[in-house]
Amino acid sequence: MTIAKLPKKFALIGSPVDHSLSPILHELFAKQFQIEICYELLSANLDNYLEIIEQFFSNGGLGLNVTAPLKTLVCRHLKNLDKTALVANSVNTIAIQKNGSLHGYNTDGIGLLCDLERKNIIIKDSDLLLLGAGGAVRGILGPILEQAPNNVILTNRDLSKAKKVACEFKEIGDIQVIETRDLCHVKAKIIINATSRTPDYLDKLNFNNTLCYDLNYAPSNTEFMRIAAENGALSVYNGLGMLVEQAAAAFTLWHNLCPITQNAYKTLTQLQANTV
Ligand code: ATR
Repeated sequence: MTIAKLPKKFALIGSPVDHSLSPILHELFAKQFQIEICYELLSANLDNYLEIIEQFFSNGGLGLNVTAPLKTLVCRHLKNLDKTALVANSVNTIAIQKNGSLHGYNTDGIGLLCDLERKNIIIKDSDLLLLGAGGAVRGILGPILEQAPNNVILTNRDLSKAKKVACEFKEIGDIQVIETRDLCHVKAKIIINATSRTPDYLDKLNFNNTLCYDLNYAPSNTEFMRIAAENGALSVYNGLGMLVEQAAAAFTLWHNLCPITQNAYKTLTQLQANTV
């Protein structure tokens, strides 16, 4: 009698998760290594997410991706945190270890850096302006500061949040915090939008000769990208490449195998173009 091998179980938890591209991505990566996986979408709220996580792992789940609004909350509940999660104070990937313990990681920062590399955007010693002071910025700041410790300018509508972030990261780099009303004086080479909605201060930004990157990827041509392009940006990008790369880094943590990302990136770009 042959016993069929059950697919390895992974999932994304958060809300909303319905339109997530993560199942497609992880299936594409798994195919490269002929691994059978099942990647579910777990919709969870602030009241039930711990229960759902516990159930998932006690039912044989091997790895979870975590998305908004749970990244920081989940981080507080995990005893074992990788440096990437500790620095970001947020978790986007959980992997179960052989002894059953759960380890938290944050692959967002490395995902962004890999995508910037793919696009030949060099951040080492480049002046960067980051918009936003929420979880998205915290996820990427550590790896950015390691390459450009004295070149990051941070702005946010609520300036106190930006100051808090700068203070939290002061061991890694010296972030300059600036009020949105002073943005017209900032001449950055790279502008990264890490806000959750189109920033309402886009008219204050100096886009001339900049490379602009929106961490958001839907719609594929975001309002930030459109305004940047119309106002002199050299190139504008959405965050689809970062999504692919952060997923690849999570895949590597779970399977100890490093997938090739180029085809997955192409597939998602086409998929997005077809759904517009
Ligand atoms: P996330 O975890 O996705 O970063 P968050 O922690 O809620 O989400 O942070 C959202 C970020 O987007 C914040 O920096 C927020 O600015 P405020 O702190 O000033 O609210 C920013 N943001 C959201 N909507 C914005 C808008 N319309 N214009 C500018 N910034 C906005």
